[in-house]
Amino acid sequence: MERLRYGMIGGGPGAFIGAVHRAAVRLNDEADLVCGCFSGDSEKRRQAGEELRIDPSRNYSSYEEMAKQEGAREDGIDWVTIVTPNLVHAPAAKLFLEQGINVACEKPLCLTVDEALGLQKAARENGCLFAVTYTYTGHVMAREARQLVRDGVIGDIRMVMGEYPQDWLLDTLETISEDNMPWRADPKLSGRGAAVADLGTHIENWVNYVTGLKIDSLACNLDVFGQGGTLDNNVEALVKFDNGATGIYWTSQVAIGFDNALKIRIFGEKGTIEFVQEENNYLKVSLRGEPPRIYSRGSGYLTPEATKYVRVPTGHPEGLTEAFANIYKDFAQALFDKKAGKDVNENDYGYPTLEMGLAGVEFFNKCVDSSEAGATWVKVEY
Ligand SMILES: NC(=O)c1ccc[n+]([C@@H]2O[C@H](COP(=O)([O-])OP(=O)(O)OC[C@H]3O[C@@H](n4cnc5c(N)ncnc54)[C@H](O)[C@@H]3O)[C@@H](O)[C@H]2O)c1
Repeated sequence: MERLRYGMIGGGPGAFIGAVHRAAVRLNDEADLVCGCFSGDSEKRRQAGEELRIDPSRNYSSYEEMAKQEGAREDGIDWVTIVTPNLVHAPAAKLFLEQGINVACEKPLCLTVDEALGLQKAARENGCLFAVTYTYTGHVMAREARQLVRDGVIGDIRMVMGEYPQDWLLDTLETISEDNMPWRADPKLSGRGAAVADLGTHIENWVNYVTGLKIDSLACNLDVFGQGGTLDNNVEALVKFDNGATGIYWTSQVAIGFDNALKIRIFGEKGTIEFVQEENNYLKVSLRGEPPRIYSRGSGYLTPEATKYVRVPTGHPEGLTEAFANIYKDFAQALFDKKAGKDVNENDYGYPTLEMGLAGVEFFNKCVDSSEAGATWVKVEY
């Protein structure tokens, strides 16, 4: 089957994650970037189009125009990647879905549960596939952790500890003003949550992806430390899962000395799994009564479900780009199968789905509800 074609919204000069997405797609070498609307700024759009060698007639000045034109082309795109600030995700994704174009969208999926439900409806009605690029599910050792849990290696899960501290926004957050507002701290662009949406949803999603557990209820406290802004930069949440297990999630954008320190421990009745994002080539597995083991990515003892994502031998570190590439590898497989006329059940492919995106939006909004009510317990629907 011929190579896939895709377009991108966002990811212009100076942007962070768009370039990582493009590198990730190139790693798999089965799709080409053919169009885009790369920035909200016209000069940056022009510059991006030139640098990426995009046909000028497909370097669009708005995502609305891009959806319309690409939807009408015989050789239109197979999917669009959305890597803009969160506010743009839902309106842009909806337009592409309405044109029958599949979507890969950054997390958090959107700002409100209503928007997320709208996307779910549009995807169903138009028969579109939808990946939400929760990066950390793409690591080989995330796939290994998921399989070990599915195989019952650590038994029924009793407790989860998830933490995700960062400090890179600290200086900006402490000097926020009307003219100096990073979009992550701006309620107009980020919605009701900052750290809880940006980082908290990664914990919520990784735990759900690996364990399959759904949050039943939560109680949350959001802090706003040392800034003029209004959105949270430090989050503590207690969660109860549908199987009776419990969890503690902490995330922070003002934790001095921490870069991108996502760490998740899953405690079962027979053992514990520990995943540390900054050391993602390894996974710690401790079984009751035995010395802890360190599993190494690429080793022969990994499960086939994880091994199929290994790109280079053990000891040659893989990282962020490979994690995205693994998500795109799963997504592209689903797209190839769809084009071949096969029945595609998105849960069978390994990429994080629209349902997971919805759960993330529900999670951060319920965290805000809880915190506003004095950290009381609230029911989680999705
Ligand atoms: N999965 C991850 O690990 C991860 C990491 C970083 C960011 N993200 C997510 O990716 C998204 C982008 O984050 P970022 O850090 O790259 O932001 P960024 O500010 O660096 O880049 C955003 C880009 O979107 C462009 N843009 C804004 N409005 C637009 C519009 N209407 N049309 C076209 N382009 C537009 C901007 O010009 C810029 O190029 C966010 O949703 C964020 O939460 C995810």
